[in-house]
Amino acid sequence: MSGSDWAVEHTPVLLPEVLAALNVRASGVYLDATYGRGGHAGAIVEKLVADGRLLCLDRDPVAVAEARARFAADSRVSVFLAPFSALAACADHISPGLKFDGILFDLGVSSPQLDDPSRGFSFMQDGPLDMRMSKGVGPTAADVVNGASEAELIRIFREFGEERFAPRIARAIVADRASKPFERTLELAEMISRVARTRERHKHPATRVFQALRIHVNGELDELEAALNAAFERLVPQGRLAVISFHSLEDRMVKQFMRRHASTDPVYAGLPFVPAHAAPKLRLVGKAIQADSEETARNPRARSARLRVAERLNEGLAA
Ligand SMILES: C[S@@+](CC[C@H](N)C(=O)[O-])C[C@H]1O[C@@H](n2cnc3c(N)ncnc32)[C@H](O)[C@@H]1O
Repeated sequence: MSGSDWAVEHTPVLLPEVLAALNVRASGVYLDATYGRGGHAGAIVEKLVADGRLLCLDRDPVAVAEARARFAADSRVSVFLAPFSALAACADHISPGLKFDGILFDLGVSSPQLDDPSRGFSFMQDGPLDMRMSKGVGPTAADVVNGASEAELIRIFREFGEERFAPRIARAIVADRASKPFERTLELAEMISRVARTRERHKHPATRVFQALRIHVNGELDELEAALNAAFERLVPQGRLAVISFHSLEDRMVKQFMRRHASTDPVYAGLPFVPAHAAPKLRLVGKAIQADSEETARNPRARSARLRVAERLNEGLAA
C-alpha cells in the first residue's frame, strides 16, 4: 500500500496546526496517542531524522494492524495496542522514564470506525449495537441498553449526551426491551426518532444518545482524565501537549486541565513567595484553534474540532 492509500480512509483534521503546535524537531521524541489511520503520525514521521522517534498508540486492533504494517521497516516508529491511559507503561517499554517533546491526542472515533456498520457506531447504518473501540473487549452498547436500569440510562444520556429527553428515551427503552432486547443500531435510532424530537437543525434525534453510549461503553472521560495526567508527567520542559476534541464534554475537561496547571496553586495566590511545587507547570499556547471554512468545506468532520495546546514549563518557573 502506498502512503496516500493509507491517508484516504481518514482525513486528519487541523494537520498544519497540529504540526505547528507540536513544534516538531527532527531529533525529537513524539507520541501520537490516537493513531487512527496515521494522518498526523505520518506527517510527524516525515519531519524526523534517523534518531527521531515516534510512539503510536491506539486501542483499536484494526488501527494498530495498519500502523504496524505501514511502519514495519521504520525503526523510528513503535506501535502499541493500548488505551492511552497506559501511555506511561508504553513509554517505559521503550526506555524506562522516557519523556516526550510532544504528545498528540486526536480524540473520538476515526472515519473507518464510523463508516464500518459492523462496529455499531453509526445511527445512519444498520449494524450490531456494539460501539467498542477496543474491538471485542468489554460490554457492548447493547449490553448497556438492555441491562442498565432506567435511572442509570437517564444518567448516561444526561451526563454524556446532555440529552434533554433522557427520561422519555430511557422509559421507552425499558418498555420496549421487555418484549425484545435491542440488538441493532437502527432499531434503537428509529425508536428514539419516534419518542424524541431534536431542536438542533441537521441533527438526527439519536445523535446525543449514540454519543452518550459511545462515551460510556469506552469509558472515554475516565480515559482522558488519566491520560492527560500521564501525558503531563511525561513531557520534557518546553514539551508540547496538543489535544483535539470533538464535543464540549471533552473540550471542557481539556480546557480545565490546562488552565489548572497553568495557574499558581490557589492556596498561594497573592502571596509574595510561591514554592516550586505550587507554581504553574504549563503555559497555554494561544487560544483554542478551530478549522477554517476551507477545511470544514473539504472535511465536515472538522466542523466540531477544537485544538488546545500547552507547553510544559521548567520546574519552578512561573509562566
Ligand atoms: C479521530 S481518530 C484519530 C485519527 C488520526 N489522528 C489520523 O489522522 O488518522 C481517534 C482514534 O483514537 C483511538 N482512541 C480513542 N480513544 C482511545 C483511547 N482511550 N486509547 C487509545 N486509543 C483511543 C480510536 O480508536 C481512533 O482510532
